[in-house]
Amino acid sequence: MPTLIHLRNQILHFGYVLLIKPILFRFNPEFVHDRTVGLGHWLGKFGVTRFLGRLLFSYADPTLRQQIGNLYFKNPVGLAAGFDKNSQMLNWLPALGFGFIEVGSLTAKPGSGNPGQHLWRLPKSKGLAVNFGLKNDGVEAIKPRIKKNIIPVGTNLAFTNDASTSTVPLAIADFAYSFSALADTGDYFTLNISCPNQTNDRLFWDPVALDQLLARLFAITTTKPVFIKISPDMTPDIIDEVVAVATRYPIAGFIISNLTKDRNNPRVLDQSVPPVGGMSGKVVAELADRAIAQVYKKTGGQYTIIGCGGIFSATDAYHKIGLGASLLQLVTGLVFEGPQLVSEINLGLAKLLRQNGYKNIQEAVGWKGR
Ligand SMILES: Cc1cc2nc3c(=O)[nH]c(=O)nc-3n(C[C@H](O)[C@H](O)[C@H](O)COP(=O)(O)O)c2cc1C
Repeated sequence: MPTLIHLRNQILHFGYVLLIKPILFRFNPEFVHDRTVGLGHWLGKFGVTRFLGRLLFSYADPTLRQQIGNLYFKNPVGLAAGFDKNSQMLNWLPALGFGFIEVGSLTAKPGSGNPGQHLWRLPKSKGLAVNFGLKNDGVEAIKPRIKKNIIPVGTNLAFTNDASTSTVPLAIADFAYSFSALADTGDYFTLNISCPNQTNDRLFWDPVALDQLLARLFAITTTKPVFIKISPDMTPDIIDEVVAVATRYPIAGFIISNLTKDRNNPRVLDQSVPPVGGMSGKVVAELADRAIAQVYKKTGGQYTIIGCGGIFSATDAYHKIGLGASLLQLVTGLVFEGPQLVSEINLGLAKLLRQNGYKNIQEAVGWKGR
């Protein structure tokens, strides 16, 4: 059976890379993104398309299953925030083989995004430059779209990107509004304190401000686990401070990491890079890896780490698990490698786990540090 799945994935991979990607890459990336979301929304409406999707893209293996807190993950590969910002593809995404999905970032008020272009491809660097600036329909419009799903759905919150959140108390009130509104909707929360494309993007890197934010949010009743999303541009000292504050509260863990703004990164290989926006994919991979290893070591493996940034293969995924991630997320790999990537990673990961004598992914978490 794995041989057949491998063959299926190879055919889909070459079909995407040789035929579909060259066409898609001729169009404006935001146009392609919007059409893809529209297509996913439509495909998710019908049982027959969902069934066909599962036939083409799914893969299941007992070594990949995990129970983490009150959530069950049939595999560790999740869709990172930013792809389904407005929760329009929830019915379709499980058919692509994901183990979980994160919608958003959502903000208390709808946002029209930053002026100008929002998305660029960095083909040589295998990354994207992103300057959406938290464009989304807002919590009230999106909430009814977040229905109970067959896989866990995370709701990623950020504070509204406008002048109404210019101070710490205002930004906390904005976060608290969204947190209360979604306290019973979706399966986990992510607090995005690391969006590089908003004004005051570093407001909650300050330990005092972060402490005030968490004190306010944890006073709101919810059974949803809460994750904090780390920036790859935080220095090791700032990461230590964020972790020290966060672990005073009953958080579930950390998502590591978001986009990087650092244009001096040696992984930026393209000549023309827009002056604005955060970068994803291979540009961020090593920064994320360093931060995962740091947080895993610092917390003694007591918190769930969701590893994110430049995952393009099962080897990349296994590397992040070795550094301390229990779960993984990706976006950019899908754009460069195709939608069968989720299944390719899961198939390859199960093989790597077995080859190395692990019966379950949980046994392999942090293997590099042992
Ligand atoms: C187009 C795009 C939009 C994104 N929007 C968000 C967002 O709204 N909130 C967020 O927390 N992260 C956002 N991200 C960051 C991703 O969730 C992820 O952390 C980052 O891209 C690294 O993963 P990757 O290399 O697999 O893309 C976005 C990324 C991309 C590519």
